Amino acid sequence: MRHLYIKTFGCQMNEYDSERMAELLARSHGMELVETPEEADLLILNTCSIREKAEDKVYTQLGFWRPLKERDPQPLIAVGGCVASQEGERLRRRAPFVDIVFGPQTLHRLPDLLDARLAERQPQLDLSFPELEKFDRLPERPGRQGATAFVTVQEGCDKFCTFCVVPHTRGREYSRPLPEIVREVRQLLDQGVAEITLLGQNVNAYRAPSGLIGDADFADLLRRLALLPGLQRLRYTTSHPNNLGERLIAAHRDLPVLAPHLHLPVQSGSDRILRRMHRKHSIAEYLEKVAALREARPEIRFSSDFIVGFPGETDADFQATMDLIDQVRFDQSFSFKYSPRPNTPALKLKDSVPEPVKEERLAILQTRINQLAQDYSRALVGSTQNVLVTGPSRRDPNEWTGKTGCNRSVNFAGPKGLAGQMLAVEITEALPNSLRGRLTAMRAAS
Ligand code: SAH
Ligand code: SF4
Ligand code: F3S
Repeated sequence: MRHLYIKTFGCQMNEYDSERMAELLARSHGMELVETPEEADLLILNTCSIREKAEDKVYTQLGFWRPLKERDPQPLIAVGGCVASQEGERLRRRAPFVDIVFGPQTLHRLPDLLDARLAERQPQLDLSFPELEKFDRLPERPGRQGATAFVTVQEGCDKFCTFCVVPHTRGREYSRPLPEIVREVRQLLDQGVAEITLLGQNVNAYRAPSGLIGDADFADLLRRLALLPGLQRLRYTTSHPNNLGERLIAAHRDLPVLAPHLHLPVQSGSDRILRRMHRKHSIAEYLEKVAALREARPEIRFSSDFIVGFPGETDADFQATMDLIDQVRFDQSFSFKYSPRPNTPALKLKDSVPEPVKEERLAILQTRINQLAQDYSRALVGSTQNVLVTGPSRRDPNEWTGKTGCNRSVNFAGPKGLAGQMLAVEITEALPNSLRGRLTAMRAAS
């Protein structure tokens, strides 16, 4: 077992998990990542179950890989992530050539599952939820390259929105001990990472498991990490409006290292639909939090997730979402047609919205969000932004690419050796998917 290929579907937490699997197997079995499935001895599919056809997508992908099993020696195929968690034994029945099935909480057992598969010549399946173990058993992170990194601090969800599979696939809410997170972030910073994004299904529900630091919450975690030398920018996602309290708002006021951008999913602008979704807050409450954050950090921008065509959504409900979008002036956001998911209570709701109506609403919503994002990009022209340099530009290796606080890519010319630095860049042009700029100072503006 030398060569590893991983294909990842889904959210940033899955990306983080895939990265950790590669690190784990590098340490346990000396495996190296390869670029194509054909080169691999072990292929891993890390799956996502959030929207419709997720299972089909997994079986289609496995179908592409199946002919590889005819090679000698046969490569092994492992399936992990949220579809594995949801499908379990069914996945083994539908794709009997799969060698290992593991869930999002058992990826740390991959080396043992692999050894067991090789020794017993039997497929292995482990879909348990031993939350406390996962992070304890992941290796240190030497040799990580790049200016930005994800760090998962919280997993799972207890909120049970009526449309969502996550509580079923990822299990209950669990937070990592604070000292362990500090250690991981410190290691990443020592290796030149400058921007950290903290991840969790409800990242701001973070609550340190009792220990020396007792009942530290998410705001405490941010304050602790902000003290670490070398940290240039800190982000987090995904946050839930119900876990956004005064202490977190105060952290946005006090910590310049926090990016002036917050992804705060609202899903719908209609109180009636929010109730049916079991989101447990009203639009008025959401707007109060947005206003408080703007007061704490005037330049902050918001993005959101939206679902259109939730069962029972009328034209008036949809209009309320559009009104909210104009009121908050959301930046680049994610939007989806509602899709029924296994085991979720929304399956039983009546008044499903016809597909063409869903499609029309989605198109209207996305057009408006894109307009707002473009307006904002244009408004940035002439301003000076703090840009974190992520690496050479893909189009022109003589140029650099970096990210603004509001998560836009900026390309600009500059001398060698800028990766990982935070620099002041004047924005000169707004293109549809990126900005162009001119380096004005070899340090960030204050
Ligand atoms: N925990 C986050 C969201 C995680 S899932 C939160 O509560 O905000 C990411 C997004 O996928 C959700 O915000 C929602 O917009 C979308 N989503 C989840 N289930 C869906 C479904 N059944 N149909 C359509 N979109 C869905
Ligand atoms: Fe899903 Fe709701 Fe939990 Fe988000 S808060 S992961 S949408 S159940
Ligand atoms: Fe998908 Fe699971 Fe993430 S369902 S969005 S991979 S938590």
